[in-house]
Amino acid sequence: MKDFVRKSGIRYMSDKQSAIGVFDSGLGGLTAVKQLKKILPDEKFIYFGDTGRVPYGTRSFETVNQYADDDMRFLLGFDIKAAIIACGTVSAVALDNLQKKFPLPIVGAIEPACIAAAQRTKNGNIAVFATPATIGKNSFATTLCGINPDLSVSSVACPMFVPLIEAGYIDVDCPVTRLIAREYLEKLQNADIDTLILGCTHYPIIKDLVASCAKELFGRDIEIIDSGYESALAAKKMLLQKDLLTDLDGQGSVQYFVSDETQNFSAVASIFLGEAAQNVTKVTIG
Ligand code: DGL
Repeated sequence: MKDFVRKSGIRYMSDKQSAIGVFDSGLGGLTAVKQLKKILPDEKFIYFGDTGRVPYGTRSFETVNQYADDDMRFLLGFDIKAAIIACGTVSAVALDNLQKKFPLPIVGAIEPACIAAAQRTKNGNIAVFATPATIGKNSFATTLCGINPDLSVSSVACPMFVPLIEAGYIDVDCPVTRLIAREYLEKLQNADIDTLILGCTHYPIIKDLVASCAKELFGRDIEIIDSGYESALAAKKMLLQKDLLTDLDGQGSVQYFVSDETQNFSAVASIFLGEAAQNVTKVTIG
């Protein structure tokens, strides 16, 4: 049964059979799609990757807010019942504004990762790796301290990871990416962390590399939290609570939309998705 909701002149329909909108600054959000396909295999997803304007992580808060608004309006052109913000930067900078402005349930990438980290840490010392904009907004630290004020949070901006990963420097033994990972991890030498949140869409691709460099430096294993996986679990929980999970089996699909050439997207997508991205369309945005 369709249920019409309005807010700020924006109207949307919530219905179990509607799709779920997912957006990211580019193709990194496909790491979240990979998890969503596993956790919600019967759902239909509409993915928008703003490949024409990526990266967001080094831009001003004002620009990220404007782009996030454009992206959400694009998704609302489809029949969607909820939105998932795969992008760590948009989740940090614009989630509150989007939730105030748009009438549908929206899941971001920050809170689910913080809940998981707060549950799993044993010594209360947590670190966050994310883009400069995400770290500049301090959303992970604020959210973690809101969950438990006794937690100690160390935040590190990692501007080199996105270009390295997009260029394919992702092998666990890749000397260049290991050098950069050690550079970032060295900032945590005195923090005695036992848990590290990967707060950016791209970073799960080098999860094993980061874990192995951390072991080399700190002499022990650390717990690594993948924010994409945690937000996919949170999305399922939210849909269940709102009685919005599809009740049709075997109808799962993903339609991809990008704002730059589709060839580039298709070529790199498999790194993030673990399979080829079919069904990609170029659109004009903003
Ligand atoms: N998707 C962005 C994030 O998760 C990384 C890429 C970018 O800087 O736009 O923060």
